[in-house]
Order: sequence, then C-alpha cells, then structure tokens
Amino acid sequence: MILIPVFLQAIKASAKMTLPKRYLITSALPYANGLKHVGHLAGAYIPADIYARYQRAQKRDVLFVCGSDEHGTAIPIQATKEGTTPRAIIDKYHAAMKQDFEDLSMSFDIYHRTSEPIHHETAQEFFTYLNDRNELEVKETEQYYDEEAHSFLADRYIKGTCPNCGSDRAFGDQCETCGRTLSPDELINPVSTLSGKAPVKRKTSHWYLPLGKHENFLRKWILEQHRDDWRPTVIGQCKSWIEGGLQSRAVTRDLDWGIRVPLPEGAGKVLYVWFDAPIGYISATKQWALDHQKDWKPYWYEKDTKLVHFIGKDNIVFHCIIFPLMLKLHGNILPENVPANEFLNLEGDKMSTSRNWKLDMRDYINDFVKQENGGTQCVDMLRYYLTQIAPETKDSEFMWKGFQDAVNSELVSIFGNFVNRTWVLMHKLCGGKVPGLHEELLDETDQGLAEDIRNAKTKIEALLEEYKFREALFEVIDLSRKGNQYMQKKEPWILAKSLAEKPELQKKIDTALHMCLQLTANLAILVNPFLPNTAKKMIHLMKVVDKLLDWENAGNLKLLRVGYSLREPQLLFRKIEDTEITAQIEKLKSGLKKMEEPKKAAPPAAGEEEVKKEIPAKPEINFDDFAKIELKVGTIVAAEKVEKADKLLKLSVDLGTETRTIVSGIALHYQPEEIVGRQVTVVTNLAPRKMRGIESNGMILMAEDKAGKLHFIQPGNLVDPGSTVS
Ligand code: 2FM
Ligand code: ZN
Repeated sequence: MILIPVFLQAIKASAKMTLPKRYLITSALPYANGLKHVGHLAGAYIPADIYARYQRAQKRDVLFVCGSDEHGTAIPIQATKEGTTPRAIIDKYHAAMKQDFEDLSMSFDIYHRTSEPIHHETAQEFFTYLNDRNELEVKETEQYYDEEAHSFLADRYIKGTCPNCGSDRAFGDQCETCGRTLSPDELINPVSTLSGKAPVKRKTSHWYLPLGKHENFLRKWILEQHRDDWRPTVIGQCKSWIEGGLQSRAVTRDLDWGIRVPLPEGAGKVLYVWFDAPIGYISATKQWALDHQKDWKPYWYEKDTKLVHFIGKDNIVFHCIIFPLMLKLHGNILPENVPANEFLNLEGDKMSTSRNWKLDMRDYINDFVKQENGGTQCVDMLRYYLTQIAPETKDSEFMWKGFQDAVNSELVSIFGNFVNRTWVLMHKLCGGKVPGLHEELLDETDQGLAEDIRNAKTKIEALLEEYKFREALFEVIDLSRKGNQYMQKKEPWILAKSLAEKPELQKKIDTALHMCLQLTANLAILVNPFLPNTAKKMIHLMKVVDKLLDWENAGNLKLLRVGYSLREPQLLFRKIEDTEITAQIEKLKSGLKKMEEPKKAAPPAAGEEEVKKEIPAKPEINFDDFAKIELKVGTIVAAEKVEKADKLLKLSVDLGTETRTIVSGIALHYQPEEIVGRQVTVVTNLAPRKMRGIESNGMILMAEDKAGKLHFIQPGNLVDPGSTVS
C-alpha cells in the first residue's frame, strides 16, 4: 500500500553519511516544589516533545529524558510553607508533575528524579572525578551563619532591607519588591529567617569551578563555533557572561538538603543544586538503559550523539556555560544546541505563582481535558496554541481569546474542516471507499497540490531541524488551507448534481477526492510531531497502521490504496465556546483577588510564624521621636506600572493642598486600576528618594499579614484628603 519514490530513498542514503547516530534530547528538570504552569510547558517541554516525536518519525535512535529536580533550597522552603518535610514535598510534586506531563501527551522515554540513589552516586562520581583531577578549587570565604539555628544560611534564608528600593521584603538573592538580584552582603540589616536573629559572618570552605580558567575554550566553542546555529538570544546571554568576566562558581553549599559532598572534609556540605541537577540527565539515561537492557555510555561519550537541551531563558548560563564545561572536564560530549525559549505572559501580565496569575497545567487538564467534551482533542488544542505562540525569539502572550481564535478559526475551520469535508464527501459520493485516480483528468490544480504537499514536507523538515517550531506548524496548517482551496476549485458536490445527465463526471469527483484523501494521509504525518492525538485519530479514520506516520511517507501521493474502505466521518476538534473563555478569565481575576483578601482559615506556615514571633522588637522611642513623623490621609488619584520594575507602582496621591508622586512596591498585590480612589496613610515628611529614575515624595503605609500580603492602612470612613493622622 505504501510506495516510496526512489529519489527519496536516494536522498536519505546520502544524508545518512553525516547524520548523528543517536539523538539525546533533554527537557529542563522542573523543581519538585509546586505545580508547573503553561509557561513552563511552552518553554522547555512542548518544543522538546515535537523535536523528539519528529526524530522518532524519522526512525532515528532517540532518547528523550526529563525528571524532577528535587534538591536546592526551594524544597525545604516549600516544606516549611506547607508545614511538612522536604521528602513529603518532593514525593507529592514529583508524582503530580509526572501525571501532568502524561496527561498532556509528553513522550519522555523516562521521567526520572534526582532523589534516586543512582543519581546521588552519579553526581558524587562526577564531583570526585573533577576534584581528583584538580579541576575544582577550594576557597575559604566568610558567609552568614545563624548562631541560634547552628547553620550557615543559604541566600534565600536571609531577609533584610533592599539597598535599591528600601523595601524590607528583600532576600539574600533577590528583592521581592523591586526585583533586583542581590547578594547577601548587599542587604541592609540582614536577619536570619530561621531564628529571626541577625546572622554573623563565619569562615567556611567550598569547592569552586574556575570558569575563568576556561574562558578561551568557552569563547571559541560558543561565540565562534555556535555563533550561527544557536539562537541569537542564547548567544547574547552567553556573550554578556563571558565579556562580563567569568568568576569561579561554588559547586557546594552548607546545607542539609541535597547530595552529600563525597569527601571527609565536606561533612555537613552538599553539592549545589545547579551542579547536581543537569547531571540528572545522565542518571536518567543510566536508569533508562538499566530498564531497557541498553548501554548508556554511547549517549554521553560518543561524538556521533547529538545532544540537545530544551530550556527556558532563565537556565541559559547553566546549560551553555557551566554544565558544558563540567561535561568537557569529565570527558563527555557537549550539547549541539540549546534552543532556549523566552517567557510566556498571561493576559497581558507576567505569570506569577505568588500573585496566582498563572494557568497551571493541572487547571487546564481539569477544566478542559477531563471534561465530558474534553479528552485528547483538548490536549492537542493546547499544544497547538502554545506552539503557535511559542516564545522562540521574544516573550509572548497567552490570551484566552487568542486560544479560542486559534482553535476555532484554524484547527476547526481550516484543518478539521478540510478533513471532515473530505470524509463526508467521500462517503456521500464515493461509497466510503478510496476512489480511483484518473490520470488523464489531472490538471494544473492537481499538479499544484501535489507540489504543495512535497514542498511542505521539505520546508517543515528544514524548520524542525532548525528548531523553528512555530513556523513549521504554520506550514502544516497552510497545507490544509491549500487543501480547502483545492476542494473549492474542484467543487465535487456541484459536479455531483449533474451526475444523472453526465455520469462521466464521477471520474472527476473520484479524482478530486482521491487527491484530498492522499493529502489527508500526508497531513496526518506532518501534524504528528505537534498534535500526536490528532494524528492518531486520523489514522483511525483511515484504518491504517501507525507505520503510515513514518516521516519518509510524507510527500507520497499513493499512501491510501484505491478501493480501501474508510471509517465514518468523525470531527477532529470541537469549538471553544465564549462562555468557556469568559469563565477562565473570570477565574484568573478572582484567583488574584482571593490572594488579596486576608487568609482567615489557613494557619500561617510554621516557619513564617516562628520568624514573625521572634523578630526582635524595635527599641523604645519617646513622643518627640514619634512626633517627627508627619502622617496624612491621601487619596490615590492615578496609578500606573513602572517600566521594567515588576513590583513598583507610580502613584499620584491627593493630599488636599497638593498632589504628590509616590513610588510604592505594591504592584504584585494590586493592579493600578483597582486602587484609584482609595484612601491611604502617607508618611509625608520622608526625604525624597529616586526609584527607577522617578522621584518618590513620601511613603504609603501598608500592613503585611502572615501570608506576606500587603494591605492598605486607611481610615474607617472617607475623610478629606490631607487630614492628619496622629
Ligand atoms: O529552573 C528550574 O526549574 C531548574 N530546576 C531547572 C534545572 S534544569 C537541569 F539542569 F536539570
Ligand atoms: Zn528592592
């Protein structure tokens, strides 16, 4: 039934000479500290899955690995928040993420976890190998230590005042208010979040990877060798790291949770999570090999392996500079490419877990896939939209209306419509069987369509090899659009009206529908890497075996045998209703509002409560000290976001006799439009301060609840702006 043109085989034979022998594809290991959202899915998972499915369809040796990243401070912090143990956290979120990925048709060959003994051993061996060969340096530095908790403090465990915006919601790695990246030494009045006490500096030794020593190699390998085949955004980030001066990076930490440093002098220390996590790709490969009685080594040691890391842009430095250097020093192969994606925003705003402005994979699965009218078609709808808006070159937007348009106007009206029309007409006019092709009737339109099919295959293949998934998917839809145009030109339903007088028209009808059916078979092959469930449904309709989906069959116009009977028509996709979209937007907004209301029922997280209780009281002041502060009631008359500062709002506050500009770090808690008209308490005699180039003349008083949510301090009744508070 399947005929492959000879010239295609010839192309394959010659191309094989230079093709890699095996493909090792990795997706970033997500932290097992919470559910992941569709931004993650669009960044590191769907593109990798498309690539893996395409390479498998090419019948290449593909290994696609992923797993949960179960170390780092993110885990114990989440455990404290949920009042449980780190082990319970990783077990819970590992299982949840694995399930979510399965529900969204991710085709990992293994979804592993970094808490497995095989991973601990692999990471320790890696460390020992580098250390034994003097590739690591030991350095003594002074780090913050909590004398009460008897513990060195990870950056996240130190809180203080931000040197940039003055907010006291700054941590040792980042200020939650202005977003600036910080180091613990920059914090003003640092406090340990473990005990609430000021930490002291204590000497400690750590192992460092000396990046600077390898600058020449990194420059050459990234900026010269990969200058043209890596994405410009990836090269750009690497360049700025290299040009900014490569510092040695500590690969160990003074922490409890993690992989023990395998040396007696490393007691009480663990490997830094970013040292162990990427080694997780190797341990996942080992586990897969054990499970399938294969040899894992060629995947990580043989030069004819093509290693490709799919990640989000926040992981670039680790996958392009640090891990490759580790691999090189350990004698492994290096990645061929690291197609990093930018970020995905949601309904015009950055996705944020703390503000609950996000769409978790689980929410989509529950609201669409698991519904009565859901199923795998809804999986493919999401995969379609996320690929269509993939943030390949710049940040992009998930808009619910955009999702609806993409599904209704493209998947349903173009792709689905073409397949459905073909099936309905073939049943109505050709007895439900593949009709014959009458070569003598073939005209320019038929030749044009045949050429379009062959060209589409070539284009899509080239785009996929270059990691241009958005464009590749566009070509698939475009081919189905051409199918509709072909059908429109041939109009078999019009010809059918004259069949009684002109029975010879049946041949024309048959030829047209034969072409449409061969196109449908081709579309199934081409769409398969992107929308695997749709492709499956299409081969079910055609009553053919999975083998039809082999990539080599694309471009072939004799995939379906004349006379073969096919199944009854069945719609590939359902429409997305307006009500579903409104409900999702409403849910998103009310989720955000809920965060803004004080949490009554939920008890505060154990750790946080402790911290609050034990924060030392401020020293006593006398009335004169207090009287120095001028407090007034003001009304917010305008509010807007501050550019490039996620957490700041620029407010105009009416104080009765004047309107002041005040910059306030409340953007994560309030939208500008919802606070206009609110009365607030303002410190009016605070010295002016510039923030992001805007002079702020005063400070708005806020109450911070135990959940970290900020609330306005406002009078019980409306009062005149400018009223004094005393
Ligand atoms: O950013 C993250 O979610 C990290 N857990 C990614 C790790 S990728 C790899 F190195 F494991
Ligand atoms: Zn700040």
